[in-house]
Amino acid sequence: MTIKPVFADATPIGPLPDDQTFLDDVVSGFSAFRKSLPAKYFYDAAGSDLFEAITRLPEYYPTRTELGILDAAGPEIAALLPRAATLVEFGSGSTVKVRRLLRHLPDLGAYVPVDVSESFLRSEADVLRADHPSLRIEPVAADFTRPFALPDGLSGGDVAGFFPGSTIGNFEPAEARRLLAQFGEILGSGARLIVGVDLVKDRAVLEAAYDDAAGVTAAFNLNLLTRINRELGGDFAAGGFVHRALFNEAESRIEMHLVSTRAQTVRVGGLPFRFADGETIHTENSYKYTVPGFRALAASAGWAPGAVWTDPQALFSVHALERV
Ligand code: AVJ
Repeated sequence: MTIKPVFADATPIGPLPDDQTFLDDVVSGFSAFRKSLPAKYFYDAAGSDLFEAITRLPEYYPTRTELGILDAAGPEIAALLPRAATLVEFGSGSTVKVRRLLRHLPDLGAYVPVDVSESFLRSEADVLRADHPSLRIEPVAADFTRPFALPDGLSGGDVAGFFPGSTIGNFEPAEARRLLAQFGEILGSGARLIVGVDLVKDRAVLEAAYDDAAGVTAAFNLNLLTRINRELGGDFAAGGFVHRALFNEAESRIEMHLVSTRAQTVRVGGLPFRFADGETIHTENSYKYTVPGFRALAASAGWAPGAVWTDPQALFSVHALERV
C-alpha cells in the first residue's frame, strides 16, 4: 500500500480512496489542540471481534440488558407496529437484535437492514433468509448518518425504524437530534421508531463497563494505534499509550482516551506528532440519557415519545417514537 501525501497538490479524480480519508482524519485529529480520533475507526476486523467480546463481558451490561428488554417487551413493541410494515434497521450489523422482534412480527411486509459494510450486509441477509424464508429482506448498503432512499416500492407505506444498541450515544446531542430528524425524513410521516438508549447511572457501574478487568476494552481502544501503524505506516510503540475510561458527569458521557505514558514523537504517514507525558487522544464519547432527557431530545427532532421499556434495575431503555 502506498501512502499519499496529505497536502497533495494534484486534485484526485473521483472519490478519495478510504485510506486517504483515514489518514486525513488522523492528521486533523492529531493536529488539534485536544487530540482525538473518530470512533468509527475502531471497527476493522480485529476491532469488530474485540467489540463482540466486549458485548459478552460481565461488566458490559448494555447488550444483554437490551436483549432482555426486547424479549420481555417484544409483544408490546410488535403491537405498536402496523401490520405488514416495512422495518428499517439503521446500522444493522449482525441480526441478533432484530431477531428478537421478528419472532413477534409474523406479518412483517419487509425488513430493510442498512449498513456500510456491503459484504457483511449480504452474508447476514443470507443467514436471516435461511431462518425466515417467507420474509422479504431488502438490504441497503449505505452510511445511515447521510440521507439515503428506501428501496423502490417500500417507501410511502407503513414504515418503522429500529435503532438499537445505544449507537445514538456515540453522537453529540445536537448531532443525535439531527440524526433522529433525518430518520424521520427517510421513514416518512406516521412512521414509528424503536430506539435503544443507555441510561445515566452510578459512576462505578459505568466506568467498569468501559474498563473491564480482563482488559478487552483496553485492547479495543489500543487497536486504533495498531491499525494506524498497519494501514498508515505509523510508528506507535507498544506501551507508549494506555487506556482510560471516565464518566464526565457534566456532559453525561463516558469518554475513552488513550493516554501517552511519556513525552514522545510518533510519525504517521511521514508526519511527526508530539505527545506530552499524560497527554490524551480522545477516542470515543458514549452519551448516557435519563428517560425524560431522551424523550425531550426525540420531541425536539419531530418525534412524539410513546412507550418506554426498561429493565428492573433501570440500566437501559427502549423507546417507541411516532413521527408527528
Ligand atoms: C457501540 C457505541 C454502543 O458506547 O457502549 C463499547 C461502543 N465502546 N465499549 C458503547 C463501546 C467501548 C458502544 N456502542
